[in-house]
Formats: sequence, C-alpha cells, structure tokens
Amino acid sequence: MPPESPEVFRAPTGTHDILPPDTDRWIEVVSVFARRAARYGYGLVVTPVFEHREVFQRVGESTDVVRKEMYEFLDKGRRAMALRPEGTAPVVRAFVQHRPTPPWKVWYLAPLFRYERPQKGRYRQHWQVGVEALGADDPDVDVEVIALLEGYLRELGLERWSLRLNSMGDPTSRRSYVELLREHLLGHAGDLGDDFRERVRENPLRILDSKNEEWQEVIERAPQLTEHLGTESRAHFEAVQRGLDALGVDYELDPRLVRGFDYYTSTTFEFVSDALDAAQNAVGGGGRYDQLAEQMGGPPTPGIGFGVGIERLLIVADAEQAVPVRESKLDAFVVDGLDGGREALTLTHELREAGLRVDRAYGNRSVKAQWKAADRARAVFGVMLGERELARGEVGVKDLRSGEQVDVPRDQAAGWLRARREFDR
Ligand code: HAM
Repeated sequence: MPPESPEVFRAPTGTHDILPPDTDRWIEVVSVFARRAARYGYGLVVTPVFEHREVFQRVGESTDVVRKEMYEFLDKGRRAMALRPEGTAPVVRAFVQHRPTPPWKVWYLAPLFRYERPQKGRYRQHWQVGVEALGADDPDVDVEVIALLEGYLRELGLERWSLRLNSMGDPTSRRSYVELLREHLLGHAGDLGDDFRERVRENPLRILDSKNEEWQEVIERAPQLTEHLGTESRAHFEAVQRGLDALGVDYELDPRLVRGFDYYTSTTFEFVSDALDAAQNAVGGGGRYDQLAEQMGGPPTPGIGFGVGIERLLIVADAEQAVPVRESKLDAFVVDGLDGGREALTLTHELREAGLRVDRAYGNRSVKAQWKAADRARAVFGVMLGERELARGEVGVKDLRSGEQVDVPRDQAAGWLRARREFDR
C-alpha cells in the first residue's frame, strides 16, 4: 500500500532549482558572456563534472576547497573521484591531455560543487562562467582577460563593483616571502592564541585576507608580498597596470588579496561588490597559474583565467535592478474554435516551423478560456480558427493589446505574423 501522504522530496541543502522565468535571466547572462568570449577569440570547452580526485589534490593540498569541501566518492571500480569544485584544474588537465596548439583560449559554463556552510551567495552547487588562456605569458593577456570581465559587468548594466589587483610573484620569491611573513606573524602572535599560530604554520598567506578583527593589527604591520617581488614579476605586474591604464580600466592595488587556490602565481584579481555580504563579496576572480600545466605532467605552459559565479552575479543584478526578468513572450496564441479535428494542431505546427513563437491551449477548453490563456501567456496576437474562418480559408488575427481584428488568408498567416514580429528571442 502506498503511504497516504508520500514524502515530498526537496533539493539537497545548499542547492537550488532555477525555474522559468528566472531561467530567462540565466539565458541572458550566459549568452552575453558567450558572445563576448567569442569576440575575444575564446572557444567553448566542456569537461566532465567529475575527475580523478588527484586532479584537484595536485593543485590545492593546502586549500580548504580541496581539503575540506570536496565531494569525493569511490566509483563502482573503486577509483577515487571528485565532483569538480572549480573549473581551472579540469581545463588544464584537458590541455595536458590533448595538447592543442597554444595559445589555447577557452571559455566555460559549469556547475561546481563545494561542501560549504550554505548562506546567501554561498552554495554547495553553484555555477560559473569563466575563461582560461594557456600558452602566453605576455602581460597583455592579463590585461585582456581582466578587460573581458570588466566589460562583461558593464554590458550587463552593473555599476556597484570594484576591481582589486595583486601579484603573487614567482614561486621562488613567494617562498622566501612566506618564510618572512611566517616569522613576522609568529613573532607578533602575542596572545592571539593557538588558532592563529596553527593557521600561520599551515598557510600564513591565508591570514592576510582574514576578517578576524583581533588579528588586524598584526596583519596590517606584516611585510607585503608586492614589496618582495622578483625583478621579472615586478616588471610583469607593472606592465599589467600600464595596460589596464591604457584601456581605462580602474583598479585598486590590494596587497592583501590572496586567492583561495595554491596554483596562483603573478597577477591575481577579484571583482567585489558591496551588494554582496562582506564575507563573500567577490562576484568573480582569477589570476595566473604559470606552473600548473607542468604540475599536471604537461610541458611548462603559462596560463591565466577567471571564474564568475552566476548566482552572485544575479544577486548583484537584483540590488542594482539590472538584467530584468523578461518573461518570454509569444508571437501568437492559437485559439481553437473547432470541435475536434486537427486544424489547431497543424496551424500551430506550421507557424512554429516558420520561426514564430507560438503556443495554444490543450484539452478542449472553451474559446473564452483560450482567449484568457492567450492574455496570460502575454502573446502579441491571438489567432482564431473557428468554423467561419475554416469555411473561408482564413484565420482571425487579433492584436491582444489594441483589440484590433483582421482576417488573414490562412496560407499567408505565417508571413503576416512574421512581418509584425516584435522580438527575436
Ligand atoms: P573562486 O574565487 O573560487 O575561483 O570562484 C570564482 C567565483 O565563483 C567567486 O568569485 C564566486 O562568485 C563564485 N563562487 C565560488 N564559490 C561559490 C559558492 N560556494 N557559492 C556561490 N558562488 C561561488 C575559482 O573557482 C577559480 N577557478 C577561478 C579561476 C579561473 N582562476 C583562474 N582561472
């Protein structure tokens, strides 16, 4: 016997269903990004939702995303797998596997999985659009990648954001800086406690972007990485700034910007918005990872990219009343005034195949109910097919806003409607 009130399943904690008409905004933000990426010479890349766990472990042993938040599982062949927590490692894995001719410029739209404590703007499954450019260490590439993202936010009509820029230097200068930083932080730890000391020992860089109030004084007095860059890193960083200046892209230098993955070298950046909660105010971010391809077993290949969280982008859009929900409208709604038969079915089919957006009602509803449905669907025209129209080989077309009516020969209906089409989506 089935239970009387069956359990209603809900989407897992930290995940969301996205339904129409909200999905129309998704189509909008993704297609604006796709067109923009194409203008910058990027092709779409699609990689699996899961990878061998080592793909991520190799790149982020000391990052929370990899150590604590990864969705890991053994498949039926007892291979250790992980749902991808981020998009860069899989793209670099694909580069190393397929060896496309560099520069290799790709963009992606991907769901990502992190077992985080869910809150507004932080989910266990989120979506990113992003780009990765492999095979060129020219600072112009950094500038173009940042300009692509800056222009994207503008194109969506967003204004409440700012760009933070930093350099993580090359691995050698970073290593000696990390030691210096560790010494400084431990030397000034005073009564800051074991948690502080533990974190400093683990990864002193992550302390820099900590929001813990008690730690701020020590952090503010800490030596800064940008003052300890090697000659090449410094020249690269300055060239990136000159390039951004040349394009009129505003930025703030933020020596405390430490991004959450081990693979970053050289340029790093983040677009932050005050429309988001302070704890996770980044709409998007990225940077260079010049050692990653080599670490994944490929030839030494520099790379740079970014990811933008679609959910956060839409939170910012809501706050700025940008990217409005435009419920999909119809060109026409077919109203079936005939008792039975296949006329409404075939007319609707013909109009749709002629490229129009057309819908109809089902299940022998009254003509009155069908006109109501046409209004509700926000169709521009109602197309009536009744006994009178059928006898004359016509359809009755009604403009649903003005109420104006006109008879159109049935075989010209598609052309007539197409000539009056108001939107192309
Ligand atoms: P990320 O900073 O971890 O970088 O993520 C990029 C963006 O994804 C964030 O700025 C945020 O908008 C969004 N995001 C991240 N985690 C969540 C979450 N739990 N819930 C909602 N949104 C989230 C990366 O993932 C790098 N792979 C970016 C990159 C590409 N670096 C170089 N190339």
